[in-house]
Amino acid sequence: MRVFKLLIATGLIAAGATAVLAQDLAADREATMKKVGGAFGAVNKMNRGQSPYDGAAAAEAFTTISTSAKHFATLFPADGKAAGRSLPSIWEKKADFDARVEKLASSSAAAATEAAKGEAEFKAAFATIGPQCGSCHETYRGEKP
Ligand code: HEC
Repeated sequence: MRVFKLLIATGLIAAGATAVLAQDLAADREATMKKVGGAFGAVNKMNRGQSPYDGAAAAEAFTTISTSAKHFATLFPADGKAAGRSLPSIWEKKADFDARVEKLASSSAAAATEAAKGEAEFKAAFATIGPQCGSCHETYRGEKP
């Protein structure tokens, strides 16, 4: 009987831990993409001429996007759950999703190097990043809850 109770208690703790973990992952996904959105906003303005070209600031923004993408990649474990705006399609097409996240990480790291060289290089690099956002969101991001 005692062992039985212990097993139940252990099971409940494990279930509780999984629930907390899922919530942490969902919050981390949202916070990480907010960082990407903030950094992208800065380079988007520069690209439109709404703020002056600043190579160091652009490089920093692209680096933030890259490191955030690398972190984002770790937030979708196989037993993770769709939550917030992360759709079930992520787990259904995991290889495609992972490849897109990896592409964002590597291309924005390359963009950071290019952006520091000059305005023309910055614009060319920016053009490689922008389309990735919407194209991934179309398939893998849901409406605002
Ligand atoms: C590989 C797929 C993918 C790429 C590429 C991607 N995103 Fe996302 N993005 C997502 C997913 C999935 C979510 C939903 C995350 C969640 O809240 O669960 C999201 C959410 C967001 C959000 C909403 C965060 C919030 O407040 O809830 C913003 C802003 C955002 N992305 C900006 C960007 C920008 C800007 C880029 C391009 C530089 C980008 N994303 C590239 C998949 C992607």
